[in-house]
Amino acid sequence: MKPLEINALSKRYGERLALDSLSFTVPPGEIFGFVGSNGAGKTTTMRIAVGVLEADEGEVRYGGEPVDVHSSARFGYMPEERGLYPKMTVAKHLVYLAQLHGLSAKDAREAMTSWTERLHLAERRDSTIDALSLGNRQRVQLAAALVHDPDVLILDEPFSGLDPLAVQDMAQVIKQKAAEGAPVLFSSHQLDLVEQLCDRVAVIRHGRLAACGSLDGLRSAEPARIFLQVDGARNDWPERCAAVAGFERHDNGLLIELAAGHDENDLLRAAMEQGVVRRLAWQRPTLTDMFRNLIDPAEGSVR
Ligand SMILES: Nc1ncnc2c1ncn2[C@@H]1O[C@H](COP(=O)(O)OP(=O)(O)O)[C@@H](O)[C@H]1O
Ligand SMILES: [Mg+2]
Repeated sequence: MKPLEINALSKRYGERLALDSLSFTVPPGEIFGFVGSNGAGKTTTMRIAVGVLEADEGEVRYGGEPVDVHSSARFGYMPEERGLYPKMTVAKHLVYLAQLHGLSAKDAREAMTSWTERLHLAERRDSTIDALSLGNRQRVQLAAALVHDPDVLILDEPFSGLDPLAVQDMAQVIKQKAAEGAPVLFSSHQLDLVEQLCDRVAVIRHGRLAACGSLDGLRSAEPARIFLQVDGARNDWPERCAAVAGFERHDNGLLIELAAGHDENDLLRAAMEQGVVRRLAWQRPTLTDMFRNLIDPAEGSVR
């Protein structure tokens, strides 16, 4: 299996620059999360990667070669707007799509059978798409991206609208595809899932790469914080404490960023003077903490 390279992609829609020289690489076997607010450019990037949209500049490479109709036929793509034929049955749909990708009638049938089993759709094979729940439709959409056993998986918001069981199935399939060596690129708003699944992430903002790297790498660039719970202390003590550079109040405690030159003992001593310390623990920054400054909530889609 080979790497998928997004190489200096730029794309304009009229006046709007949707992608501005965006580059990143998804190595084989890696689960790569693609994160950013609405309108940041994720869908545009993925559509260009699978060849349904053309870039103004830059290119997508697979195994070092520019992607063409031959290589992109080996990609599995789950689009954001789910394009299934409402009156077709699940089985017919999947067989049809597999044949479109070049499988023989027999292989297409086998692929349909095995994927509907894997994704717990076996009972639904003869249902029409419009009779399915949203979660099952999404399972069909995933099966549709997989029936031709693709070498690359590109999934646009695969988890949106899924119930927890379907999320588990989806996550399983993503992991297995990566374990088989496929580069897997998926976008998601659900940062907890991105955190669970991904080896690396790219944060995109206004069509540009705001950050890219392994979760641990990105984490180490973030100031570590301390969770502190003190009972009986005055409400305003952290503001007056020299060891505290910044803090946030949480349900039952404070999340504290230490001031330069101070350590946890300084904080503990100060807190003990204020009340009874119930808990003091270093806390790893979550993706949400890390991306707070990178994701622009005001970056609305104006489509
Ligand atoms: N077909 C289109 N015509 C005009 N503008 C578009 C079109 N598709 C996307 N855009 C614009 O391009 C930008 C990036 O959109 P998109 O790639 O869908 O972002 P994301 O998937 O991150 O939400 C947005 O500003 C959006 O409004
Ligand atoms: Mg999108």
